[in-house]
Amino acid sequence: MGLILVGCGKMGGAMLEGWLDQGVPKDSIRIIERSGEHAQALRDTHDIIVADSLDDIEDGFPADVILLAVKPQMMDDAITKAVRFKDRATFVSVAAGKTISYYEQAIGTDARIIRVMPNTPAAVRRGISVACANDQVTDGMKDHCTKLLEAIGEVAWIDDEALMDPVTAVSGSGPAYVFYMTECLTQAGIKAGLPEKLATQLARATVAGAGELMRQSGTDADQLRINVTSPGGTTQAALEVLMAENGFAPMMDQAIYAAVQRSKELAG
Ligand SMILES: NC(=O)c1ccc[n+]([C@@H]2O[C@H](COP(=O)([O-])OP(=O)(O)OC[C@H]3O[C@@H](n4cnc5c(N)ncnc54)[C@H](OP(=O)(O)O)[C@@H]3O)[C@@H](O)[C@H]2O)c1
Repeated sequence: MGLILVGCGKMGGAMLEGWLDQGVPKDSIRIIERSGEHAQALRDTHDIIVADSLDDIEDGFPADVILLAVKPQMMDDAITKAVRFKDRATFVSVAAGKTISYYEQAIGTDARIIRVMPNTPAAVRRGISVACANDQVTDGMKDHCTKLLEAIGEVAWIDDEALMDPVTAVSGSGPAYVFYMTECLTQAGIKAGLPEKLATQLARATVAGAGELMRQSGTDADQLRINVTSPGGTTQAALEVLMAENGFAPMMDQAIYAAVQRSKELAG
């Protein structure tokens, strides 16, 4: 199957690296990247065809998937040029806040659209992408897109597009919450007397290590927490603060609520 990647920045670039590592043939890929310097760097690094506009894609190229990875505010321009491929292509968008109906209005209600919310750990292939398709997309194409998205991590599908708002709040924005928690842990360590360098190292290694343990063990988070909590010990003393009525859980509820509201506003 042929694939056109429109926008090869942080997210598109992570996907491209993943596809090439998976062995997707280079001649089945076309990249659209409007910055000449960046386009040349991609050609030099990957020996791949990069054009600066969809208008430059040769007639006859099998555009089975057009993966749109430009910033949401750049999407109008990108989608206008993509319309000429609508008879063959499935349009896969990773742009935050751009709904399936946005693409249907721009391309046509008979267009095949998949809306995806990835997240930043995609850069190290530990992302999670949540995908939602309109009724025009075949099961075979969903399977194909699952494989493409697995190049940057795990993949989950939803049927109800309304769930994209809480998905965005939990996994799309979620890495930032974890980074902020790491910052807070660092600062609390400094206040408890640790030198800044050591506090930073401890917080970073602890968050990364706990995440990796959760991933590799497959054990639920609550069980992993119980496993490190000895009755009457130090962890329990800290958790009694974090798990108090006014502790971490209600704050997280409020944070997710705020992100869901903002996601709805951005989607219009
Ligand atoms: N980064 C993430 O972790 C993340 C997470 C979830 C969703 N997303 C979504 O992924 C999309 C891309 O984000 P990003 O962080 O990868 O952005 P980015 O690094 O800015 O990459 C976008 C790339 O697309 C290029 N571009 C812009 N308009 C174009 C056009 N009309 N044709 C071809 N190329 C064009 C940009 O070039 P110029 O620099 O010259 O404009 C840039 O190289 C966004 O819609 C975002 O919502 C990203």
